[in-house]
Amino acid sequence: MIQELSYVGFASPRFDEWRGYGPNLLGAMLTGDGQDGAVRLAVDDVGYRIAVHPGDIDEFRYAGWGLANETDLHAYVEHIRSHGVEVHWAAENLCREREVAELAWFLDPWGLRHELSWGKTAEPNSFQPGRVMRGRFVTGDQGLGHIVFQVPSLQEAGRFYVDVLGFRLSDRIITDYADVRFYHINGRHHSLALSELPGHVGVNHLMLEYENIDDLGRAIDLLKRNNTEIMQTLGRHTNDLMTSIYINSPSGVQIELGHGALVVDDLSWVARTYDKPSYWGHRYSEAAMTTKPGIISPIG
Ligand SMILES: [Fe+2]
Repeated sequence: MIQELSYVGFASPRFDEWRGYGPNLLGAMLTGDGQDGAVRLAVDDVGYRIAVHPGDIDEFRYAGWGLANETDLHAYVEHIRSHGVEVHWAAENLCREREVAELAWFLDPWGLRHELSWGKTAEPNSFQPGRVMRGRFVTGDQGLGHIVFQVPSLQEAGRFYVDVLGFRLSDRIITDYADVRFYHINGRHHSLALSELPGHVGVNHLMLEYENIDDLGRAIDLLKRNNTEIMQTLGRHTNDLMTSIYINSPSGVQIELGHGALVVDDLSWVARTYDKPSYWGHRYSEAAMTTKPGIISPIG
């Protein structure tokens, strides 16, 4: 089974701005550029977890899902192939670029690219935050964070992401204007969420979690100092109890910066339904009203 959200990749004409945005605001660490000019960011001792490639338009490129080892990866590939998923094994140069031992990839029903790998490069004590931080990012056995996709149909998405890929439902938030399902693959309340937007597909946001609330507070101060409007103000989610803000990035994808989400125990977890996303806060800013959240396009 998939164990973690291991890494993500985007493309953008403004990829270069991530060299400042990643370290100075988020606290991530710039790592080697490689040959392709992409900006790569580490958030822990794993080689890198976020890549922003040069590109003509803002694009979601791939989500990388980590499996425990070689045996699990091969068994998983066979399993999803038996459900009719067309899986491709990657050549060595792509494995080298992603810094993994082996890699297979496939597309979801709407063309979102997912990669499966094991053996990602890591170096103990190599992470140094890009700005002053009191703690670290919450990663380890909870993986990078979570990613939220917008899909045209939750029912169809469920048949793929749940029935075939094995994501386990944590809970749902259903309001007058939104229908979102949250899925776990490890202790993190959700590594994946799917939000329904008929006729559209794309990525809404990537979440990174700080161990220490002061590092979230400092991000808010830095945004104020730079006169950068927060997309959604500080607030606390009903389901994972995350205290967080939502901010824009140089390349369309929103970033949720959070702290204090609960950890799920799969043996005793029971999925609930909530009728609002937040207990308090998470107010939309003027900027959020005029900017489309994430990188979402009409299908077809
Ligand atoms: Fe989120």
